[in-house]
Amino acid sequence: MRKKTAPNPADAWDPAREFLLEVLDLRTWFETKKGLLSGKSQRIRAVDGVSFCLEQNQTLGLVGESGCGKTTLGRTLLGLEAASAGDVRFRGRPLLHLSRKQMDQMRRHLQVVFQDPVSSLNPRMNVMDIITEGLERFGMLEGTKQEHARRLLAEVGLDKAMIYRFPHEFSGGQRQRINIARAVSLRPDLVICDEAVSALDVSIQAQVINLLLNLQETHHLSYLFISHDLGVVSNIADQVAVMYLGRIVEIGATAQIIGEPCHPYTQMLIAALPVAGQKRAESAQVKGETPSPADPPPGCHFHPRCPKAIAVCRDTAPDQIRLRDRTVCCHLYA
Ligand SMILES: Nc1ncnc2c1ncn2[C@@H]1O[C@H](COP(=O)(O)OP(=O)(O)OP(=O)(O)O)[C@@H](O)[C@H]1O
Ligand SMILES: [Mg+2]
Repeated sequence: MRKKTAPNPADAWDPAREFLLEVLDLRTWFETKKGLLSGKSQRIRAVDGVSFCLEQNQTLGLVGESGCGKTTLGRTLLGLEAASAGDVRFRGRPLLHLSRKQMDQMRRHLQVVFQDPVSSLNPRMNVMDIITEGLERFGMLEGTKQEHARRLLAEVGLDKAMIYRFPHEFSGGQRQRINIARAVSLRPDLVICDEAVSALDVSIQAQVINLLLNLQETHHLSYLFISHDLGVVSNIADQVAVMYLGRIVEIGATAQIIGEPCHPYTQMLIAALPVAGQKRAESAQVKGETPSPADPPPGCHFHPRCPKAIAVCRDTAPDQIRLRDRTVCCHLYA
C-alpha cells in the first residue's frame, strides 16, 4: 500500500555515516563578451575544480583574495549559479541540477547570510515578518508568529520588544543579527556566511562571531564561512581552505594551516596578517597582481607571484598532494 505522504527525500540523512556536504571537482565557468564592442567571448573560470568535505557541526573557512571565486562557489551551492561540471552531495543527496521546487525544499536545510545587512532585508517588512517568513512558508509555525519572533530575537541577542521595528531602525551589527535569526529560524544544517562580518567594526565582528559559535553549539550547525580575512576566519573555522584563482591550493585543520602553512601563497597570506602593535613589514605583503580567471597563467596559477617557483611550476599544473595533516596543491611537496 502506498504511504499517504511520500517521505521527503531530503530528510533521510545519517550524519554518523555521511558528510553533510561533499563537493567534488566543482567547476563554475562564465561565458562573457571580451569587450563591449568585440564579438569575441571569453570563459571565466571562477571556480575551477574545487573539492572538499564538511561534517555536521563543523566550520570550513574559505579564504583568498578578491575575485578568486569564493562567492561564486557559495552561490553555486545555493543553486544561484549553474555548475559547469562536478558533483555536490548535501545530506547524502545530489545537490546540483535540482528543479526549482526541489531546491526550494532543500533551502530549509541550506541557508545563507550575505555581507550587506542593509540590502538583504526588505525595508518594508518589520522584524517579526522578516524572521518568521521562512517558518510560514514551510508550514513550521506552531503557535503565534510573535512567540516565534521573540524566541528567535532572544536567540540572536536582540531585545524581544523590537519585533515591530523596521530594518532602518537598527545598527549594522543588529541588522546582521536579524539576518542570522532569519537564517537559523528553519534549523538548517548548513549556513553559508559570505563575508558576513566584513562590513562590521572589529569589536562588532567579534560579537557576531561569538553569536555564530553559540548558535553552532546549540543547534549543531555547520558553516561555510567565506572571508578575504584569514585573521577573522581563524577565529571561527575548524578547517581552512585557501583559494587562489578558482582552485583550493591548501586545506586542513585551522591550527595546522595557520601555524605551519605549506603552500607559498598561504605563507604569504599569513605573513601579511597584521600583528598587534607592529607595523606590517613591506616585504610581508602578498606581492603582484592577481591574474584574471579568464586568462590564468599556465602551469601552477600562482607561479608568476611565487618566490619559490621552480621550472616545473611554469608549465605543469600541480596535483592535489595529501600530506599527513592537510592537502596541498604545490610541486614543492610532490
Ligand atoms: N555572473 C558573472 N558573470 C561573469 N563573471 C563573473 C560573474 N560572477 C563572478 N564573475 C567573475 O568570477 C570571478 C570570481 O568572482 P567572485 O565574486 O566569486 O570572487 P570572490 O572571491 O567572491 O571575490 P570578493 O572577495 O571580491 O568577494 C571574478 O573574476 C568575477 O569577476
Ligand atoms: Mg565575494
